[in-house]
Amino acid sequence: MTDTVLRKASKAEFGKMEPQVVEPGGKGRTWITRGGNFAVAVSEVEPGAVLARDDNPEEYMVILPPGSVAATIEAGGSKIDAKADSLTIVPPGPSRITATAKGLIARIFSKASGDIIAQAWNNATYADGAPELAPPDLWPAPYDGYRLRHYPLARYAKPDGDRIQPRVFRSTNMLVNLFVHYKTRRETTKLSPHWHDDFEQASLTLNGRWVHHMRYNWGPDLSTWQPDDHGEMGTPSVIIIPATAVHTSRDVGDGETSLYDIFCPPRLDFARKKGFVINEDEYPLPDVPADDTVKTGGSLLSWQKPG
Ligand SMILES: [Fe+2]
Repeated sequence: MTDTVLRKASKAEFGKMEPQVVEPGGKGRTWITRGGNFAVAVSEVEPGAVLARDDNPEEYMVILPPGSVAATIEAGGSKIDAKADSLTIVPPGPSRITATAKGLIARIFSKASGDIIAQAWNNATYADGAPELAPPDLWPAPYDGYRLRHYPLARYAKPDGDRIQPRVFRSTNMLVNLFVHYKTRRETTKLSPHWHDDFEQASLTLNGRWVHHMRYNWGPDLSTWQPDDHGEMGTPSVIIIPATAVHTSRDVGDGETSLYDIFCPPRLDFARKKGFVINEDEYPLPDVPADDTVKTGGSLLSWQKPG
């Protein structure tokens, strides 16, 4: 853990800000928030809205949350009718998402998608290149080559299972944890304040209200110290949690809540936990020494610990 935090968390509540992009045809509005190595693009779409990429350099992920939204997703010579409550990994190259029903579509891009990164509302936050972060190395290509990969998510949820049900997927360039939505609130005696040494975490919340408790590490310069942050956020919203900042998230209020965590590049500690990453059989692991795995410290839940 280094002794300096270089930046504060970026927080975006989409209901309180203008979108960064109005999609061609006017049927989609997109809010783009970046981290050092990735961008989260959330679009509010009407039927017929098109989210197209002419030649995306790497894979990207598409989340259709539970609810009404639906879309056709085309790439690599294939076409998928994606329903709500699904994840799709889109291969490099040209691709096209056409909304067939109203709702929200979240896309996660790596830093290689420079045009998306440049449109982020907080692009200037990363003008220094984020030297505190490990480089976004691309992991090995999938065993069967790049193609559209589609995962309906309900099959990975246990209706009567634990309150916290991680659902982790990875690609060559990122890893997401799409927790089963919550019907009850997190107990305040079972929080998990922890930090990540050299990577950021995006937490995308589409339902409910959230407090992302945050404690920034101290550096040698008193004038750069930040107060603890216990601010409440509405949804849909996203927060980019900086490396080394102690954090834990808690849902508040009534109703269903949702939280999706995003890491780019993929987390090696999670990827190495046999059976933890749902699509682990599709992607080889990188050749990295075993002692280079753990980059997270603090109070961890059992599933957060290395395998
Ligand atoms: Fe974390």
